[in-house]
Amino acid sequence: MRFPYQVICLVLLAVFGWLPAAPRAQGAGTPSTPGVPKTDQQKSGEAIFQQNCTLCHVFSGDKKRFNVQSSTELIGLYKRPTVTDEAVRTLILVGMPGRMPSFRYTLAAREIDDLIAYLKIR
Ligand code: HEC
Repeated sequence: MRFPYQVICLVLLAVFGWLPAAPRAQGAGTPSTPGVPKTDQQKSGEAIFQQNCTLCHVFSGDKKRFNVQSSTELIGLYKRPTVTDEAVRTLILVGMPGRMPSFRYTLAAREIDDLIAYLKIR
């Protein structure tokens, strides 16, 4: 009688393996709400963000399918203690080969300042 044993295993897997995993997987991807810009600089930064960064850093089902979605919406980026202005500026200027474009020739220094001011409250 091998068949019923396998069925029981599948049922156990479904109950103890799958079901607890489902809420965890959802929890990891649950989007939090971005901060609301208040100063002119933050508002300018948000506009620059919307034009240049949302393709990958704001999530939607289709984007995942088209493989353009980054793993992060950059919400609460600056809550991480290791994140510095210089590191973020360098990443935006240089990009990540094959993953994130360089904005060296797209954004002026002042635009990157605005963008960073926005990322700080996002
Ligand atoms: C073509 C897609 C794409 C665009 C456009 C893009 N990025 Fe990214 N970005 C990525 C990917 C991919 C990563 C790496 C994170 C990951 O593992 O998915 C990343 C990582 C980052 C990180 C590091 C995140 C972390 O948690 O350490 C920052 C900051 C960032 N991007 C800022 C920006 C900003 C600001 C813009 C707009 C000026 C931008 N990105 C535009 C794809 C993109």
